[in-house]
Amino acid sequence: MDSFEWNKIFGWLLAAMIAVLGLGIVTGYAFPNERPETMGYLACGEAGCVTEDAGEEEAGMSMADEIAIAMQDADMSKGANVFKKCATCHTINQGGEHKQGPNLYGVMGRDIGSAAGFGSYSSALKEETGSWTFEKMNEYIANPRSAIPGNVMAFAGISKADDRADLFAYLNEQGSNLPLPAMPAPVLVDEDPDGTGAEAAKADDTVEAELENAQAVPNSNIGGPAAPNQDADENPAQ
Ligand code: HEC
Repeated sequence: MDSFEWNKIFGWLLAAMIAVLGLGIVTGYAFPNERPETMGYLACGEAGCVTEDAGEEEAGMSMADEIAIAMQDADMSKGANVFKKCATCHTINQGGEHKQGPNLYGVMGRDIGSAAGFGSYSSALKEETGSWTFEKMNEYIANPRSAIPGNVMAFAGISKADDRADLFAYLNEQGSNLPLPAMPAPVLVDEDPDGTGAEAAKADDTVEAELENAQAVPNSNIGGPAAPNQDADENPAQ
């Protein structure tokens, strides 16, 4: 092969490389591959993101926060419509009969598994402690089977938080009237609130300790200077 042939081959190779590079640049614009700001929200899904490790909640919104927010503009009349899914097995009027499931009049705030005269509770529900808070009801209605393993309510769950919020507003109106769940502390976007850079430099365990504090008193830091939730976004769990 003479040098002229080689030149042609190199020429083609060069052209091919430029074409590949160019394509990469063009498609890079067309399909930007950026990390979303909040990772992992979708992964929380209906089963919730609440885990043993408070630090893990950093990545997304907890179910409790999600329903607290959704409850703020819940619509009772839509909730009455959602309740049709429950009405095959539950009445909700005062003194209504028990069907396959217990009468649900006044169920919000009622002790779990305590409807008077309902004889068919599973032992799972009977042994479940506490009362029907919005948070507990939300976990149960989102996914009855995983929320209280062993309970026998044959219902798949309602996946949309807004539908659940409407439903809970309706349930709450039928003989309960629990106060709405507290709104979660706002997540601030200020990168360096005190201008010292100290926030960003904090060790992870400090952040986690703060998060735990924040969860213990969820409303105490609204608008407050420390607003620990902002650390969540700056230091996502790996
Ligand atoms: C197929 C029938 C069925 C449907 C549909 C159904 N439930 Fe139930 N529900 C039951 C049964 C049965 C139980 C008792 C479960 C147990 O003891 O394990 C129950 C229990 C409950 C409890 C616990 C009551 C208590 O006294 O602690 C609540 C709350 C509840 N259901 C709400 C709902 C809501 C809200 C819907 C609609 C979104 C719904 N259920 C749909 C059958 C049903």
